[in-house]
Amino acid sequence: MLTIENLSVKVEDKLLLKNINLNMDNGEVHVLFGPNGAGKSTLINTILGNPKYKVVGGSIYFKGKDITDMPIYERAKLGIGISYQSPPSIPGVKLKDLLKIISKVDWEKIEKMAETLHFKDFLKRDVNVGFSGGEVKRSELLQLFAQNPEFIMFDEPDSGVDVENVKLIGTIINDILLEKTKKPADRKKSGLIITHMGHILKFINVDRAHVLYDGIISCSGSPDEILNTIIKYGYERCIACYQKRKH
Ligand SMILES: Nc1ncnc2c1ncn2[C@@H]1O[C@H](COP(=O)(O)OP(=O)(O)OP(=O)(O)O)[C@@H](O)[C@H]1O
Ligand SMILES: [Mg+2]
Repeated sequence: MLTIENLSVKVEDKLLLKNINLNMDNGEVHVLFGPNGAGKSTLINTILGNPKYKVVGGSIYFKGKDITDMPIYERAKLGIGISYQSPPSIPGVKLKDLLKIISKVDWEKIEKMAETLHFKDFLKRDVNVGFSGGEVKRSELLQLFAQNPEFIMFDEPDSGVDVENVKLIGTIINDILLEKTKKPADRKKSGLIITHMGHILKFINVDRAHVLYDGIISCSGSPDEILNTIIKYGYERCIACYQKRKH
């Protein structure tokens, strides 16, 4: 699904990602941990093709195609989707109208998902205008559901979300990624989830975890093991382990 080779990225002359390598197969769900400012949002914005992030080395392949220099709309057409950490508000554009434009699934299904998300009343409002932090996350999820991408990146879908809604959002993310209505062999959606909190992972089947630290993937492995290590020892342990392996 996605292969990243030796990716280095700059924003305004600051090197934010250094030699990133990442491989995700069809149907896999990975989680990306890392402290504030590590470069997590930078990585997924670069995968999406946000032109603010300049690739200064390496390549990104999606479904076997080199997308490193592809514009953002072509990547979206190929099936890459994102739920932003802090999406903009769009005054004058109703959420319902936006959903109708971007939608690749039947309107009835979108309405049903809006109901599940307790979000029907928001369809007539301008996109994200005056939405609370938690409401913005549900708006993003509904937009992703409508776009139906094959590879979905979630940038902190749980930040600012109350306990009950974390369960709701986590369960829906899992349903979307697992494509519950399909037979296991036909499921091929993949996801990359950024989170600081372990709680949401109770509801999502995650295959692999990575730790991004200072623009470097310092560790990859079992999600439970890595999360427990971070909780117990902090990120310093991950970087110490990385340096030990390097030498
Ligand atoms: N235009 C810019 N000029 C200089 N530095 C920048 C610019 N844009 C982003 N950065 C820096 O890049 C670093 C990585 O930012 P990024 O948003 O990727 O972090 P993150 O891992 O997503 O953190 P968080 O967990 O807080 O969301 C940060 O230190 C940020 O301040
Ligand atoms: Mg971020």
